[in-house]
Amino acid sequence: MRIVFGLLIVGVALASPIAQDWPVPRTAYPVYRPVYRPVASNSTVSSIPSNKTALVTDAISSCSSTWMTISDVTIGGGTDHRTGFTTAVSKFCDMANGSTVQSQDYLSMATEVFLNSGKDPSKYGLLGYVYFEIHNKLSSSHTVDATSCKKYLGTLSEVGGQCYGTTNGDTKGGTYQVGTNGVSYHALGNSVPPKQNALNKLLSTTVLAAQSVNKGSSAPLNPWPLDSLNSVLPTPCHSHNDYDRDIPVFEALSAGCIGMEADVWLFAGDLVLGHILPTPGRTFQAQYVNPLKTIIDHNGGSVYKSRPSQTLVLLVDFKTSDAGTLDAVVTALEPLRQAGYLSRLEGGVLVKRAVTVVASGSAPFDRINNGDGIPDRDVFYDANLGALGGSTYTSQNSYVASADFQDAVGEAKTAILTSAQMDTIANHVSQAHEKGLVARYWNLPGEYLWEPLEALGVDLLNADDLSNTARVPRLQ
Ligand SMILES: *[C@@H]1O[C@H](CO)[C@@H](O)[C@H](O)[C@H]1NC(C)=O
Ligand SMILES: *[C@@H]1O[C@H](CO)[C@@H](O)[C@H](O)[C@H]1NC(C)=O
Ligand SMILES: *[C@@H]1O[C@H](CO)[C@@H](O)[C@H](O)[C@H]1NC(C)=O
Repeated sequence: MRIVFGLLIVGVALASPIAQDWPVPRTAYPVYRPVYRPVASNSTVSSIPSNKTALVTDAISSCSSTWMTISDVTIGGGTDHRTGFTTAVSKFCDMANGSTVQSQDYLSMATEVFLNSGKDPSKYGLLGYVYFEIHNKLSSSHTVDATSCKKYLGTLSEVGGQCYGTTNGDTKGGTYQVGTNGVSYHALGNSVPPKQNALNKLLSTTVLAAQSVNKGSSAPLNPWPLDSLNSVLPTPCHSHNDYDRDIPVFEALSAGCIGMEADVWLFAGDLVLGHILPTPGRTFQAQYVNPLKTIIDHNGGSVYKSRPSQTLVLLVDFKTSDAGTLDAVVTALEPLRQAGYLSRLEGGVLVKRAVTVVASGSAPFDRINNGDGIPDRDVFYDANLGALGGSTYTSQNSYVASADFQDAVGEAKTAILTSAQMDTIANHVSQAHEKGLVARYWNLPGEYLWEPLEALGVDLLNADDLSNTARVPRLQ
């Protein structure tokens, strides 16, 4: 890992003497591509279909495509609980009970549901939303009755029915048509909340539309669904390859990850995100610092409301090595620093707070070790897990120790490690823990290694497919 970085730093320095020019693509960098996308990205921009429903009478007129678990589900090997479709339907119908929907009008609400992507929901899935909408196409008004509402929407999850998934007990949701071109009851899964103020609130007169998420410069989500995260329990995952995610902070926190990773470039004076190349305008501050500040404010000082003592590792992977990168990171962190949310070194002792910033990649160890340009000593180093002997790395300069799994441990085509590999890992972990550091491997051959790694004491499990983290036990 270090050799690779060394060569790359030299390569970038030679080819790119002007620090703020477009950096040279680092093709030698090992790009680990996730096997799955968390949720089909176009399912995040769909909205409730209009009245383009077939002329069926008192029956399902269409199914949607985003799978939701029907029953409430126990995840994390029995350590966590997520809401299914039936609970969401009851919530909506009970709230809507007695409401009058005028002719041509709508009554809508979105609420939390577990999206299992058509897989075993006890092992695979992420927090998402189901959008409910009652669309009255009659010339007279329609009064919602909770019992009928549950019956109509419940048809969408009926065992053996059109929208039901036999293998995993899930539903695609869809539309139930009351009468002939009369009243439509819609229920559609989505990975993000709606634009409208309809999250766990009834809203009339408008069609729900999903918040648009993109990899550009706009705010990740607005409004931010803060309360949706209230009951999420943290689990030892580290959200890796964040540049691939539309809404990195939200996705990582909705999975309960205690680590997340931002690849940053100093580009044209801005600290921007990107992996192979920077994405101009997509700033570290807008995508990470500001949302985290909002969340921690909301929770009264912690990232996870359910576990206030849990610090979040914000791993900042430096893609540019000039001194300005560290300065820009220190500056961008100012809102979190001002609020007292950053772990820091005080009198030579680590004082943990909501967020622990760890600098990786081309970050300058010496400056971090000396606190040079980091007056509050609130940036720590990502030590080399494979080289913890000696006195270089300590809990005063580092917080995480990482290594490339395949370099440091070797190949592993299945979850069965050789005893030599287990010894290597156990050694790395005990060295890290003796120094008070958190152990992590990157470039895992597969997420099937999480269980053996966790059993050997590895603290952060690198996750590319966050839906997979549903199977990982929550922290107790
Ligand atoms: C989603 O988008 C991809 C790429 O744009 C496309 O190939 C695919 O068919 C879309 N899926 C759905 C369900 O619309
Ligand atoms: C809904 O249906 C009505 C009558 O069938 C039609 O006039 C109207 O244009 C439709 N609206 C949309 C948005 O398709
Ligand atoms: C719905 O409201 C009616 C009165 O409008 C009430 O009689 C009924 O019990 C309510 N149903 C539920 C499930 O709350």
